[in-house]
Amino acid sequence: MRTISVFTLLLLWLPIFAQGNTSAKTVTNGEVWLDTSGNPINAHGGGILYHDGKYYWYGEYKKGKTILPEWATWECYRTDVTGVGCYSSPDMVNWTFEGIVLPAVKDNPSHDLHPSKVLERPKVVYNAKTGKFVMWAHVESADYSKAAAGVAVSDSPTGPFEYLGSFRPNDAMSRDQTVFVDDDGKAYQFASSENNQTLYINELTDDYLRPTGRFTRNFIGMSREAPAVFKKDGKYYMISSGCTGWDPNNAELAMADSIMGPWKLVGDPCTGKDADKTFYAQSTYVQPVYGKKDLFIAMFDRWNKTDLENSRYVWLPISFKDGKITIPWRETWSIDEISGQN
Ligand code: DGJ
Repeated sequence: MRTISVFTLLLLWLPIFAQGNTSAKTVTNGEVWLDTSGNPINAHGGGILYHDGKYYWYGEYKKGKTILPEWATWECYRTDVTGVGCYSSPDMVNWTFEGIVLPAVKDNPSHDLHPSKVLERPKVVYNAKTGKFVMWAHVESADYSKAAAGVAVSDSPTGPFEYLGSFRPNDAMSRDQTVFVDDDGKAYQFASSENNQTLYINELTDDYLRPTGRFTRNFIGMSREAPAVFKKDGKYYMISSGCTGWDPNNAELAMADSIMGPWKLVGDPCTGKDADKTFYAQSTYVQPVYGKKDLFIAMFDRWNKTDLENSRYVWLPISFKDGKITIPWRETWSIDEISGQN
């Protein structure tokens, strides 16, 4: 009798333990996502690095009150700059907080990383030649006129990152941005430029720290933002948003045979509920899941413009079914049960 009751008790506890450890495999879009310590994941406008069998998610660590500056003539809501946060995961679902890997610089009001400035869309890539982890981010002056890229380096994916400074790549404005490393090890920065009207692709030097001077202007006058780039079967793809501040609009997919272009917009890949508003979210990155055939996760931010810290995430598998590229809405999905052919 005693033995049976202990066994029953153990059975009752089993699902609770299962939720508490790293066994969760389900993505629920738009909910608060918790890290392995039970705190909300704070990594907005982010990107992923896959290195030595682990995923690292870097993003804007938005903490505290959202404000609209007194001078604002548009909805430039922001929080004080806190820094770039990093989370690690073995499986793209269970995330452990690794800390603020590039912190704000509180004691120097003229520094790019002072809390009064703006720091957005950090992306980290690994340079196999130098052995360095290189971060690119959009840095802004408090009045949003700087439109520059800030670069930082580290010897470890979990930092600390050393800030090297900022500049306008190829003397052009640089706002929403991402960095993409091609199979041959060459890296490129994609950035909304010319007052967000034209998207620049800037080839980077071998150490990934500066532009080489070679660049192309894409989607001229078309106001594409939030570029998220991936490569599949030798072709290049880019998801981007329109330009409506923090408010959602419809996404576009673009394709190219060569990374520097020409790029061709081929239509909105989103399907299902609220597809015309990108599921009330905005693209930030696309990450392949290693060991899973054709599984590419499109990452979006569901901004809460008046409470930015409380913005949420929408992650969706890209579908390559029957040769057609779509991003169907799914409220929940399991990483174990899905592939790009779903
Ligand atoms: C849209 C951009 O994609 C965001 O990263 C942010 O810069 C907002 N605009 C600010 O309004």
